[in-house]
This record gives sequence, C-alpha cells and structure tokens, in this order.
Amino acid sequence: MTFKIAMIIGSSRNESINQLLGLALTKLAPSSLTFENIAIADLPMYHGDLEGERPAAINRFTAEVAACQGLLMITPEYNRSIPAVLKNAIDWGSKPQPNNVWKDKPTCITGTSPGATGTAVAQQHLRQILGIVGATVMGGESYITFKPDLIDAQGNVTNESTHEFLSNYMKRFATLVEKLSA
Ligand SMILES: Cc1cc2nc3c(=O)[nH]c(=O)nc-3n(C[C@H](O)[C@H](O)[C@H](O)COP(=O)(O)O)c2cc1C
Repeated sequence: MTFKIAMIIGSSRNESINQLLGLALTKLAPSSLTFENIAIADLPMYHGDLEGERPAAINRFTAEVAACQGLLMITPEYNRSIPAVLKNAIDWGSKPQPNNVWKDKPTCITGTSPGATGTAVAQQHLRQILGIVGATVMGGESYITFKPDLIDAQGNVTNESTHEFLSNYMKRFATLVEKLSA
C-alpha cells in the first residue's frame, strides 16, 4: 500500500537548501510513501474578509493537502522561528475550523540551515503550532546543519551518518503513517 504525503517547504528560493533537503528525503524515504511538493508562495496573506469567497490559490492549496494521508513539513529558520510564508499556509489550512486540513494528519518535521543548531528553534515553534492545529506530529528531532557538500545537486546525501539518520527518520515516519491509516 502506498500513501501520498504533502511536502510543504518554507522556502521556494531557486537555490533553497530546504528544497534540496526535501528532494533528498523523497529519495531516502521508503517506497510506501509518495510525495507531492505543495506550493505555498502564491498564497495571499490570511485575512478574515477573504473567508467569504476564498481565493482560488487557497482552495487549490487546501484541496491538495486534504487529498494526502500525511504531511512532511520542512522549515528554514528565520530569526529563530518559522518563515511567515509557512505560518500563513498553516493559518489558511486551519480555517474554517470544521475543514481544518491539519487535524489528525500524521506529520513529520525537519529543516536545515547553515547555523550550528540547524533550525532547532524554528522546529520547536513549528511543533507547537502543529500541535495546536491538531496534527499528529512524530516525536524525535531532525536538525540538519547544512554544509556545501552535504547534499549533491541530484538530492543525494553524501555524508554517511546523515544519510543513515535521515533514512531512519523517514522509515519511522512511514511506520507512523501506516499505523495511523490502518
Ligand atoms: C530573515 C532571515 C532570518 C534568518 N534567521 C536565521 C536564524 O534565526 N537561524 C539560522 O540558522 N539561520 C537564519 N537565517 C539564514 C537561513 O538559515 C538561510 O538563509 C537559509 O539558506 C534559508 O533557507 P533556504 O535556503 O531554504 O531558503 C535567516 C535568513 C533570513 C533571510
């Protein structure tokens, strides 16, 4: 059985190291998981007055997330928190409450930055927010300090211990998705 995973990445920059990490994770993950890289950069800023007639980009986004059985969220760290574009996407997905797309979704979080703590603080914020919107966030920690040669352009993790660590992290996630979908 295969499960579709919504991959949401808090940076859409051409040279984004978090997009590169996302590519690497899709390669390392067990074949029971397939990934859809869901765009968030085109979402307007949340505003309650838009709720009446939601913009097409929002309906596209929430439909894509709702169609997935799990969620992989990859965040950069901006000033020790998550980028506004990612928080905005989470806010849209949480409203209106009966249609909250995050509720009970098996979720895996990670992220990378060149800093020594590798997005640890941003991920703490992300974990808290996702808990509040009702996602089932996998325990454990995956803070990746990015080095220029850590992941090649094809998305292969070149460092052996990081390769093993991330493979195991994705295996645990596949097991969680399988269990919660049973
Ligand atoms: C506004 C801003 C704030 C940042 N704050 C942090 C930070 O708190 N911690 C950190 O490790 N890196 C920080 N950085 C550096 C980012 O980790 C780095 O730009 C990274 O490449 C962003 O991810 P991306 O390549 O996926 O876009 C910051 C960058 C920006 C633009």
